[in-house]
Amino acid sequence: MKTIIYDVADPIEDQQLIEEAAEIIRSGGLVAIPTETVYGLGANGLSSDACQKIFDIKERPPDNPLILHVASLKQVESLVREIPPLSMRLMEKLWPGPLTIIFKKSDRIPDIVTAGGDTVAIRMPDNAVTLKLIECAGVPIAAPSANISGRPSPTNAIDVYLDLKDRIEMILDGGGSRIGIESTVIDMESEVPTILRPGFYTKDFLEDIIGEVRLDPHLKIPTETPRSPGLKYKHYAPKADLTAFVGERSRVVKTINEEIEKYQKEGKKVGVLTFTEHMSSYHADAILNLGSYWDTEEIARLLFSKLRDFDRMDVDVILAEGVEEKGLGFAIMNRLRKSAAGRIIEV
Ligand code: TXA
Ligand code: MG
Repeated sequence: MKTIIYDVADPIEDQQLIEEAAEIIRSGGLVAIPTETVYGLGANGLSSDACQKIFDIKERPPDNPLILHVASLKQVESLVREIPPLSMRLMEKLWPGPLTIIFKKSDRIPDIVTAGGDTVAIRMPDNAVTLKLIECAGVPIAAPSANISGRPSPTNAIDVYLDLKDRIEMILDGGGSRIGIESTVIDMESEVPTILRPGFYTKDFLEDIIGEVRLDPHLKIPTETPRSPGLKYKHYAPKADLTAFVGERSRVVKTINEEIEKYQKEGKKVGVLTFTEHMSSYHADAILNLGSYWDTEEIARLLFSKLRDFDRMDVDVILAEGVEEKGLGFAIMNRLRKSAAGRIIEV
């Protein structure tokens, strides 16, 4: 199968292309879609066969449920058993946007979407082209991140292409994803609303809207088994082994420089992932910049694409500077910790 890439900037100008994509979705095929968080691998969310293709192509473990993407609040009604008032408040305030809400599922949803569970994850992405596509397709679109399982999520069409070329019908290229890390996942069916996956919308921000919000215990104690099934697998991993360093900033630089020297003596090619302020502090083989240490939005936007750049540079090890775990820094460190398979070194 040849993968077509369409450049779609505008839902009105590109109406024809979007209708073609919608036809692929309706007939059970796969289309990679731009969203404000990361690119998604989209299929008809009401078709078991179409969703099965997502699992096959991504090599995704079958116990990891999918998110359904909708284009209107109305569309949610037939997919869930009820819309609790606090969930409605979140939907009205924050959709379209980087927030996935867990509901009790209705009978319309195939088991494969929810991995057999009785809840379903739903979100309305903030991307005009993708909203138009969902509307034209006339079905919710099931879409995990458009990467091979375990790899960093793609934030642009080329990164999708490099993972999924010749395995899917179409990629809609809507430019770079504005946020760069996946949506916050919040379980509104637990006694107290609980964040299962941190993202752009933080606990404090959500508490201002709905009152008390908890963090799933695994987010605080990395050894607890996560309740969001996808979170227990290896994730976001570049090809080279990554280690992240946190602590007082000048000590971090000193430690990374010692590590560079050690690895280079072993003949290894070393990549460093750092911030603008420290770009000239290292003598590594490849040094990539996540923007200013203080600009967490920029760091989140660039993180996954820089990890993928290291793959293309063929480094053997990656040494990364971490950020403080506050605000958006909490979600950034959650992703970096998984990319590092837990190797976070406090100096
Ligand atoms: O930003 C995003 O959410 C992106 C874009 C494409 O929308 N999608 C995404 O999907 O990140 P995926 O499949 O890579 O991650 C979905 C996460 C997984 O951790 C999964 O376990 C969790 O959501 N999830 C899905 N359904 C769930 C459910 N019913 N209960 C608990 N967690 C669920
Ligand atoms: Mg994913």
